[in-house]
Amino acid sequence: MCGIVAAVADRNIVSVLIEGLRKLEYRGYDSAGLALVNESGLLRLRAVGRVAELAAQVEATAAAGNSGIAHTRWATHGAPCERNAHPHVSGGLAVVHNGIIENHEALRAELTAAGYVFTSDTDTEVVAHLIAHELKTGADFFDAVRAAISRVQGAYALAVLREAEPERIVVAREGSPLLLGVSEGADGAIDGYFAGSDASALLQVTRRMVCLENGDCAEITRSGYRITRVDGTPVERPVFESQLSADAIELGQYRHYMQKEIFEQPAALSATLEMLEGARSVQPGLFGANAEAIFADVNRVLIIACGTSYHAGLVARYWLEAIAGVPCVVEIASEYRYRESVANPHTLVVTISQSGETADTLAALQHAKNLGMAHSLAICNAPESSLVRETALRFITRAGPEIGVASTKAFTTQLAALYLLTLALATRLGRLDAVREANALQALRHLPAAVARVLELEPEIKAWAERFSDKQHALFLGRGRHYPIALEGALKLKEISYIHAEGYPAGELKHGPLALVDRNMPVVAVAPNDTLLEKLKSNLQEVRARGGELYVFADADSEISESEGVHILRLPEHYGSLSPLLHVVPLQLLSYHVALVRGTDVDKPRNLAKSVTVE
Ligand code: G6P
Repeated sequence: MCGIVAAVADRNIVSVLIEGLRKLEYRGYDSAGLALVNESGLLRLRAVGRVAELAAQVEATAAAGNSGIAHTRWATHGAPCERNAHPHVSGGLAVVHNGIIENHEALRAELTAAGYVFTSDTDTEVVAHLIAHELKTGADFFDAVRAAISRVQGAYALAVLREAEPERIVVAREGSPLLLGVSEGADGAIDGYFAGSDASALLQVTRRMVCLENGDCAEITRSGYRITRVDGTPVERPVFESQLSADAIELGQYRHYMQKEIFEQPAALSATLEMLEGARSVQPGLFGANAEAIFADVNRVLIIACGTSYHAGLVARYWLEAIAGVPCVVEIASEYRYRESVANPHTLVVTISQSGETADTLAALQHAKNLGMAHSLAICNAPESSLVRETALRFITRAGPEIGVASTKAFTTQLAALYLLTLALATRLGRLDAVREANALQALRHLPAAVARVLELEPEIKAWAERFSDKQHALFLGRGRHYPIALEGALKLKEISYIHAEGYPAGELKHGPLALVDRNMPVVAVAPNDTLLEKLKSNLQEVRARGGELYVFADADSEISESEGVHILRLPEHYGSLSPLLHVVPLQLLSYHVALVRGTDVDKPRNLAKSVTVE
């Protein structure tokens, strides 16, 4: 992953670099670094840990410069330590990199034989030496970068700074996002050129941005920028005005972003469903201008996503098949992109992503397109993301910025969007009469209030969390459309509390996981009052008979009672098809409170990142 910022201006740009890194920290936060050129030459500062550590170094050293590059890292090659932190240097130049250089071993061997000494375990360092090598042949800086990257295989966004030419920074993109920023001072005159991994890093200086495409190289100078393809052919890319909000995202009354985001779910759902105000049916137009024509040409759905977004897709499959009667498969993007599969041009390819920048999801979409499936829809929380630019149709969830690494409000708003998609397809296929559609819309409109009532269970969930805090393992069980909710509950617990957790379809318990059950393994069951409740109760008996301690999230009217080793919390109301949106909420709260008791870094759990832009 990693985040990149670069700046050339007529003023000291160090604060721009640090602020940009703060905004990009969601992409990785195990180390950070920057390189500047000032009158003393090339200065490099690197720190293990958060951007704050680097900022402290900057302050302590009063580092300053009019041009510089900076990086926040999520380690791929080489442990997170100072030696491996970017920038990497060679022959008076410094490089920051986001992505993976796949042929780094061969290049490292070649460069070592040519006399270059490696000081890190990273794949990135080969790029620094390759460019230095090209410069030695007398090549121009821009051309040297182009020549170097033409030897590189893999994914990259790069920024390169050279001590001898501090007014030029060269950047390149292949597979990892990179934007240029054109900043105007108060008088309207250009006062600097910038580059960054995403718009959030650049909004502090400008809204005017240029999105580089794969295979683009660019140089930014104090007086302008130019873009070419890797072979040197000049290209123009449009300047656009970013519409993103630059407002600081405050924690307010909350202790963590994850807690804030869990409690924002009623508002996020209201915003996402706002367009239903007064609507009597779900119009295809909600998904884009061409939706009607595209929906008329599809007879199946392929959902592609990663992580929590994948779990949203798994829930949607139950809806799409049961309500709309549309066959649906759900694929993990990193698997699908390399799997030999059977393509059908009448497939609606639905990509789900909070960030819209997940490398595997983007690549899987491209793979589906290459197989001849042109009907694509993005369900995404980032309106200006790569994913949204690459699909024919889109539905933007209005969850607002999600900062906590563990996804919460993005998930429930994705589910709302997927339910709308189900209704739109069901109506088109004549599977939903006016009464059922009106009821479904009414249920959606009432959803924010229903979620708000579930949030009131927090005190009881907090008490349960205490009992999980000394456990090493936990099992989450669900059935039907709540099986993906069990998966999501387990993912939440493991990612932020580091307790090993598995989600299982309850009926599958006896085929293996039951062997693990003893009194040290809490078993969490999602038990809404639906047609599978009696089946689930039998599965829970199997757990109880082996001494397993059960924590059951039931509905107000689920016929299930407390007994020794069986703890029950009831959600205020049963919510029919939309019940997964309610039942995930207590599981989010449970993992949040378990993590609090265990004292982990809730918003930035170890080894993870918010947006996974490498495969
Ligand atoms: C990372 C995040 C998860 C997220 C997943 C997919 O692993 O930590 O919270 O679910 O990426 O991200 P996306 O932005 O594509 O939804």
